[in-house]
Amino acid sequence: MKPHLKGIILAGGLGTRLLPLTKITNKHLLPVYDRPMIYHPIEMLVRAGIEEVLLVTGGHNAGDFLRLLENGEELNCSLRYAYQRGEGGIAAALALAKDFAAGSPICVVLGDNLIERDIIAAKDAFLSQSRGARLLLKEVPDPERFGVAVLDASGAKIARIEEKPIRPPSNLAVTGIYFYDETVFDKIARCRPSARQELEITDVNNLYIAEGTLEFSRLEGWWTDAGTFESLLRSQNLIAQRVQRPSRASG
Ligand code: DAU
Repeated sequence: MKPHLKGIILAGGLGTRLLPLTKITNKHLLPVYDRPMIYHPIEMLVRAGIEEVLLVTGGHNAGDFLRLLENGEELNCSLRYAYQRGEGGIAAALALAKDFAAGSPICVVLGDNLIERDIIAAKDAFLSQSRGARLLLKEVPDPERFGVAVLDASGAKIARIEEKPIRPPSNLAVTGIYFYDETVFDKIARCRPSARQELEITDVNNLYIAEGTLEFSRLEGWWTDAGTFESLLRSQNLIAQRVQRPSRASG
């Protein structure tokens, strides 16, 4: 696989679960302790050596990202922007990155995902694959809120992924950090809107499973999203602790 990995951060959507906080601003511009939420996924990519980044956003406040982040220089990256009309789903937002990716492998991060450590080990494992995709999995107490992975009998491969199952078949959440080869855009084109009228990233990942090319790594350290009041509060506290007591960096 070509080693030059590009980064894509998905920060569209309307953030309705956080109303009224998101009535006049984008979710990813809300503070998470000492910085706007969007700084965290950008820093995650930069710490992994991924410095060419596309930010996909939408809604009424897209210009505020430009005012805040400019060309990315202050965060040690080169930033480009794309605009998603409406809220067609994570895979629909990712489809807008096709020209930016231009055949390179990509690391996609959801703009409301925060981690304690780094993604360097997963990135290296992905780059040593000849093709396909790699997900980061994390054991959680509330898997029904996420995409949930079921491993095969060997425990080495993902057998299937269920999106927000009422009765979770495991406690392994699919985090919002994904590595894809260039075939991801053809796979998105094969997907159809789900019952909630979104193009689901879980459908894309299941296409990689069908092809036999989906791998996974386990994420070390804590992981959280920040899209609900509870998880936003948790993020604030976790980042505050990380800033006050930095942990050792690891994969
Ligand atoms: O956080 C991990 C989870 O994220 C995964 O386990 C799920 O499989 C995945 O579907 C997703 O679930 P959520 O329901 O939490 O996704 P949400 O709609 O909150 O969107 C997460 C981010 O994706 C959001 O912060 C911005 C981006 N997004 C989302 C939508 C729907 C877009 O850029 N455009 C969109 O249209």
